[in-house]
Amino acid sequence: MGTRVGGKYKVTKKLGSGSFGEIYLGLHVTTAEEAAIKLEGIRTEHQQLLYEAKVIRYLRGGVGIPELLWCGTEADFNVMIIELLGPSLEDLFNYCHRKFSLKTVLMIGEQMLSRLEYIHSKGFIHRDVKPDNFLMGANQKSHQVYIIDFGLSKRFIDPRTSMHIPYRNGKSLTGTARYASINTHLGIEQGRRDDLEGLAYVLLYFLRGQLPWQGMQAFNQKDKYHKICVKKQNISVRELCKGVPEEIGTFLCYCRNLKFDESPNYSYCRKLLRAVFEKNEFTLDYIYDWTKKQSGSTNPLPKNQEALPEDSSRQPQPSGGDKTEGEKREKLEKDVKEPPRAPRQDVEPPLVKDMKDVKVMSKKLPTTPLPSQLSSKVDKDGQCQQQ
Ligand SMILES: Nc1ncnc2c1ncn2[C@@H]1O[C@H](COP(=O)(O)OP(=O)(O)OP(=O)(O)O)[C@@H](O)[C@H]1O
Ligand SMILES: [Mg+2]
Repeated sequence: MGTRVGGKYKVTKKLGSGSFGEIYLGLHVTTAEEAAIKLEGIRTEHQQLLYEAKVIRYLRGGVGIPELLWCGTEADFNVMIIELLGPSLEDLFNYCHRKFSLKTVLMIGEQMLSRLEYIHSKGFIHRDVKPDNFLMGANQKSHQVYIIDFGLSKRFIDPRTSMHIPYRNGKSLTGTARYASINTHLGIEQGRRDDLEGLAYVLLYFLRGQLPWQGMQAFNQKDKYHKICVKKQNISVRELCKGVPEEIGTFLCYCRNLKFDESPNYSYCRKLLRAVFEKNEFTLDYIYDWTKKQSGSTNPLPKNQEALPEDSSRQPQPSGGDKTEGEKREKLEKDVKEPPRAPRQDVEPPLVKDMKDVKVMSKKLPTTPLPSQLSSKVDKDGQCQQQ
């Protein structure tokens, strides 16, 4: 392939690579505007990049959704050019020695929740909630959390009938085992609740430094996923949430207690996070752990890190409804099965260049009482209890 794609972007250095494609830094030939270029070989067995581009186009305009600049096929590659973003939360977690402060977790957690709420409001579920799929914005947007990687996302509302997709079981795991909901492990069709349960695990991962089901010894991948599932089922919420604010445990229980097609009460979830924020008298200034670390150091922000292969399972399933509700009524086609697991490669230096660009806003959160009638609490045995 030539070094120019979409007519206007020169492909330069490699920024990262995932299981489904490689990401390069693009430079607009006339404006020198930077962009991220995701490539997928046209001989890839289960192609999904053009599907992903259609989803991003459909979600356009939402806060924290990267802008789609171009997509198409050139030479031997499917190409998607999107807005260049900053480092992922996994990169930043490594940069901060694999521990985030409570304030940082709450500030990013609320934004992650809002990204999922937005995607859900457009009739899609993400199905691969993990720290690598949330990136900070670049430059002026470096305080803002973005969500990426819609290759596994799926419509949960049929646009023709406006009905929720039907309950199914016997499905193989789609997403990433470490953050997958228990129901996803059990082969149940995913819904909005599973994205949120995944978010709860991500928040716990950030607060605890690791999850108890990481690094489990097993004979093979199937055995490994089984062991992860058993551990998730058997560990009490109290033990899992030991040392973290009880509201996080309440959030996890709430997600686990949602019915398959139930619409989550996002504002309740947000209030749980905000209650902790207020209790600790934090200020919503978007000064994260890495902001402080960066301003006091000459260390560049992190490179993307290798994902732990044993816990990163990306096994896409065929998507459901296939018509968008957009003006063009585009057909969203996706029929992907298990993708080849390309090993990740190391990537080029930091994606966010200037942390001084972080916008500082000094704002106190309003006091928001929790609706007690909705609480899914942790019972005396440390397990979830439905109220
Ligand atoms: N717009 C972007 N700007 C900067 N970096 C990006 C951008 N999009 C992706 N990346 C980097 O490339 C990595 C892989 O991207 P993405 O998740 O889209 O690919 P993937 O093949 O679907 O990944 P995986 O299967 O490993 O989750 C990201 O984790 C991030 O580090
Ligand atoms: Mg990804």
